[in-house]
Amino acid sequence: MSSGRAIAHPNIAIAKYWGKKAISGNIPAVPSLSVTLAGMTTTTDVELDAAAKIDTLVLDGEDARGDALTRAVALVDRVRMRAGSNVRARITSTNDFPTASGLASSASGFAALALAATRAYGLDLDAADVASLARESSASAARSFFSGFAALDTDGVAHQVAPPDQLDLRVLVCVTSEGPKAVGSTSGMIVTAKNSPFHATWLAIAPRIFDDVEAAIRTKDFERLGVAAEASAFAMHGAALAAGVSYFTDATHAVIGEVRALRNEGMLVFVTMDAGPHVKVLVLESDRAKCAERMESVPGVLRVIQTRPGEGAKIVEETAS
Ligand code: PMV
Repeated sequence: MSSGRAIAHPNIAIAKYWGKKAISGNIPAVPSLSVTLAGMTTTTDVELDAAAKIDTLVLDGEDARGDALTRAVALVDRVRMRAGSNVRARITSTNDFPTASGLASSASGFAALALAATRAYGLDLDAADVASLARESSASAARSFFSGFAALDTDGVAHQVAPPDQLDLRVLVCVTSEGPKAVGSTSGMIVTAKNSPFHATWLAIAPRIFDDVEAAIRTKDFERLGVAAEASAFAMHGAALAAGVSYFTDATHAVIGEVRALRNEGMLVFVTMDAGPHVKVLVLESDRAKCAERMESVPGVLRVIQTRPGEGAKIVEETAS
């Protein structure tokens, strides 16, 4: 039977999206811009099984049930509909970094699954089209199809903004917990939109921060990018916190404090955080080694993954029946 294997990397939003314009189709309320990260990889196999009655998912070696299985099947259902097939699939996916902990495993997971599934079901779609299928499962996944810097607009369409070598940017992922995150991003967004007194302010300023980040990338201005990245992260988390949605732990604050200390010493270094307790530190290659050493010594930091702008999702193997 036919099968497809795809790999995808997580992406970290420099200009965040938080909030949906439409739940149906999973369309973001604000534009976002991210960097796709080399060095952290999801590998996903989709094998069609004509004899099977149901789809199965093995995630990091364990049979998945509940939400993880439901979301994967929903994506494969959309692919099946496009392909006019009702054949079931065996899905196997592994991450070489903690799953569901705010390290953007949903972005790389759904990007790799969408690509592997479209190939296994014999569809030959362009990247923007496959990105759209993945976006309906996780909006941030649409950005992982593109190398380097990628944007996602408020029509749900993703595109590349600049290639990986546009800036000498390095991202130090400070892992502060191996467990799953406290509040999933979609429910965090819904609660923020409903209860945060700052939600309207967030919706008003996020597009301006996006423009600033895009201009910083275009003009290769790392300091402008870092300042805007922190503005985006703190505005997003501020709006969420005002609705009682908090992702920060003591370790999160400790890393932010250490980055500020380095900045006071003259280093150009900035932070960003997604829907989890980890901190992603943005630094130039020239300061990477010193910065990583300092982050490794922060209490509560389990390890530091050193990454750089990387490649978009791609097929690594396919067989046709
Ligand atoms: O699309 P999701 O469900 O992976 O949510 C992403 C939310 C943030 O990571 C916090 C922001 C972003 O733009 O990636």
